[in-house]
Amino acid sequence: MSKEVILTGVRSNAELTLGNYLGAILPLVRLQQRYSGDYQINAFLPDLHSITTPTDYDQLYARTIYNLRIFAAAGLKLDDPNTLIYRQSYIPAHCELTWILDSFIYYGELSRMTQFKEKSQGQESVSASLFNYPALMAADILLYDASYVPVGEDQRQHLELSRDVAIRMNNLFGDLFVVPKSWEEQVKFNHTGARIRSLKHPEFKMSKSISDPSGTILLSDSPKDARHKILSATTDSFSLIDYDFKLRPGISNLLLIIATIQNKAVEEVTLEWKGQTSYAKLKQTAAELVESELEKLQANLALVTENEALKALAKHESTVREVANIKLAKVQASVGLRPKQ
Ligand code: TYM
Repeated sequence: MSKEVILTGVRSNAELTLGNYLGAILPLVRLQQRYSGDYQINAFLPDLHSITTPTDYDQLYARTIYNLRIFAAAGLKLDDPNTLIYRQSYIPAHCELTWILDSFIYYGELSRMTQFKEKSQGQESVSASLFNYPALMAADILLYDASYVPVGEDQRQHLELSRDVAIRMNNLFGDLFVVPKSWEEQVKFNHTGARIRSLKHPEFKMSKSISDPSGTILLSDSPKDARHKILSATTDSFSLIDYDFKLRPGISNLLLIIATIQNKAVEEVTLEWKGQTSYAKLKQTAAELVESELEKLQANLALVTENEALKALAKHESTVREVANIKLAKVQASVGLRPKQ
């Protein structure tokens, strides 16, 4: 039997944040360290998703390569024999499968996606691709029969839509796709599914596409600046530490940051701090962890060359194109676009 697939990607629409790092990059690196050999890992760069909202088009190409260097600096081995590394736009089957999936995903389902609602709110013009974003994401996942998709909690709805369309098409055409694991199983597998919040407005997620400089830690921030941002994070007036995003979002955010960096369940870290009254001590701990994590990451980044990243992409993309085309052909035959296989 072939290996189960773990797959994730990070867009290159803007500079990466601590949220991206803790929600997706670090979980993937840890999964590779722990399970490579037992699983097939796909670490890909969703560059087509990066243009669903206006971006700096002059920077996009370089930023995509830069993001791969960040993955490597975070510890992802680019030469691991069980890891495939590729850019979405270099594998045409992603777009072709998207169109087919689009014909089995309902307008109502796409309209209900909260990310679409949030990102389109207040915008004068909203691209059709932003609306269609989850169909492309489903294609990214289903094309490779991925079971595990380590993403932040903001992507849960998209993952669930991918499951729904896989199940729907399997019911119609037989076993076409592996259905990705449910959210609960995903979280159990990779310990996270985090949603890191803004340090200034902890009711909102930390986002690379919203301007919130003091609430957002960029991976390119100086470690000292990052430390200061944590030390001046918004908290509350309860003066009692507990994990409760409704009542204490700022404090809960710090507990989540600590837990994710330390690779512990947030319940475990909460137990260590619950009932304590010094927010300063908690901030200090989170600040030190983030500062040293960024120091490490940035020192490693300087050692990963662009050439190395490009070489890994060139090596994998032709293999991936073949893998993807086999699946695409199977789907095309099932829906009547090609003769039955
Ligand atoms: P993107 O680039 O918006 O986000 C990349 C990853 O970072 C996570 N993330 C967060 N996690 C925790 N706290 C936050 N504040 C935070 N902000 C972002 C996201 O959940 C994501 O895991 N649609 C994906 C990219 C994608 C993809 C895929 C992922 C395209 N196709 C297929 C997996 C499988 C996204 O949100 O990118």
